[in-house]
Amino acid sequence: MLILFSAVQTAKAAGIDSGEAAYERCALCHGLFGNTPRAKFPKLAGQNPTYLDQQIRDFLSGRRHNDGGQMSSIVTEITEEEITVVVEWFASQDDPEPVGAGSDMGKELFVGSGCESCHVEQRSDTEVVPLLSAQHTDYLIKQMRDLRDGTRSGGETGVMRQQLSRLNDNDIVAIAEYLAARERR
Ligand code: HEC
Ligand code: HEC
Repeated sequence: MLILFSAVQTAKAAGIDSGEAAYERCALCHGLFGNTPRAKFPKLAGQNPTYLDQQIRDFLSGRRHNDGGQMSSIVTEITEEEITVVVEWFASQDDPEPVGAGSDMGKELFVGSGCESCHVEQRSDTEVVPLLSAQHTDYLIKQMRDLRDGTRSGGETGVMRQQLSRLNDNDIVAIAEYLAARERR
């Protein structure tokens, strides 16, 4: 009840009079608090807001199109003002919980490949680099493959493609498991 009440209040504050806050449309796939257990849909909770904003705009412009058409369709249904509302909503939710164990091999590959020079994993309001810790293993695997193979484009993906070019599929799985099991700081 309390949750519904506050969602309605936020919607009103944002000037949305349809009775439905924009982020409720995202809930179907990402969960109302951006923390869905379904690995096809990335956890958005606590993610860097500038990164979220950039990805939404990339789906909107078609620069990112590795989503099976799901995101590119929904983003045409929200207004410019609603982008700000949904970004603020998801970025301000509690961090997701880590899942699984992860291996030393995953850690060695992540650190040894220099990933930490950009992925400092510290929450930032201005950073275009996403937080990876506690994200779904399978989502991370798909993104790393898509980035390496050029299936995911837009944003700063050029730099990522180069970073991942030396990693094979086994390396990618090990890194994903390590990251999914790591606590956000
Ligand atoms: C019908 C399902 C669906 C709905 C509804 C949906 N999304 Fe998504 N979203 C996806 C899928 C699938 C992906 C991952 C695509 C991929 O595999 O690259 C995604 C990815 C994203 C990403 C990229 C996250 C990252 O870590 O790179 C953002 C940001 C996002 N969605 C925001 C939203 C917002 C905001 C809404 C509501 C306006 C929304 N989504 C509604 C399915 C959905
Ligand atoms: C030079 C900076 C830089 C380095 C080094 C780097 N990344 Fe990235 N990474 C980025 C940026 C920027 C993005 C966002 C891409 C975009 O704009 O769509 C990203 C995106 C990602 C994503 C997608 C996350 C999501 O939510 O969709 C994964 C996974 C990832 N990086 C893993 C890695 C791994 C593993 C390494 C080391 C092999 C690495 N990165 C090295 C800058 C970097």
